[in-house]
Amino acid sequence: MSLFELEAVGGPWGRRLQRRRAGLSRLCWTELGDPDPAAREAARVVWTRSTFSEYASAAAFAEIASALLAVAAPIDLVAAAGDFVVDEMIHAEASARLAMALGGAVPLEVDLERLVRPASAENALLRAAELLVRTSCVGEALTVRILERARSLATAAPTIHAVLTRILKDESQHAQLGPWFLDWAAERLAATDRAHLGRIAGQALVAFVPLFADECAPGSGLGTLGCSDFDATFAGAVIHHVARPLAARGIEIPPEDLAAIQQASRRLPAG
Ligand SMILES: [Fe+2]
Ligand SMILES: [Fe+2]
Repeated sequence: MSLFELEAVGGPWGRRLQRRRAGLSRLCWTELGDPDPAAREAARVVWTRSTFSEYASAAAFAEIASALLAVAAPIDLVAAAGDFVVDEMIHAEASARLAMALGGAVPLEVDLERLVRPASAENALLRAAELLVRTSCVGEALTVRILERARSLATAAPTIHAVLTRILKDESQHAQLGPWFLDWAAERLAATDRAHLGRIAGQALVAFVPLFADECAPGSGLGTLGCSDFDATFAGAVIHHVARPLAARGIEIPPEDLAAIQQASRRLPAG
């Protein structure tokens, strides 16, 4: 475990990245509305954690790019996966800058050697599909809906609204890579492979259950959602944006996993 920090060296490498992060340089980082101290504190924690999840998403797409190369996937799909690593690094920077603008990141202990859960299948095609189901068809598909909702509430904080808009533009593409890969690989995926992928998607959903054990907090419009809002958005996204698109591709999530996540996401608001 180590303390999570980001660093950039600049020079030719900063210039190389400049075009991609141009939107960020133009942002004003101080338009955060007038949040009360508790909301600001909660948002610092959320944006610090978001910085790390963006970093972990970069690792997932780096792994996916290698897995796609190993199965001679179409070059544009491979290039997209590689390019998404850059997107996620820019999201990590944007999230870190928001945490700084809110008063500074909070200390976070992380294990950088365990950023991505390895795929379990023996065959390379199924391993690539596993990684994409977990990261794109589940993780990114849920992220898009949560961020859309957070953005709709961030009307009094233009900086946060702008950062969420920038991140969302990329995340919706990240959520599409999985379905496109599954369609490309469709003829080579047997019924047993699809059943395996359904279990992988179920495990990825159930991994979110501990998230719902946290105490309910009110939303602040600083990129955080109150728990009733978060729970309803999450539960709806599981059905409409994860389970349905996978089922359309013959990948059924085990009903007990769907029931577990729907049950967990029915917290009662505090107070
Ligand atoms: Fe991201
Ligand atoms: Fe992403």
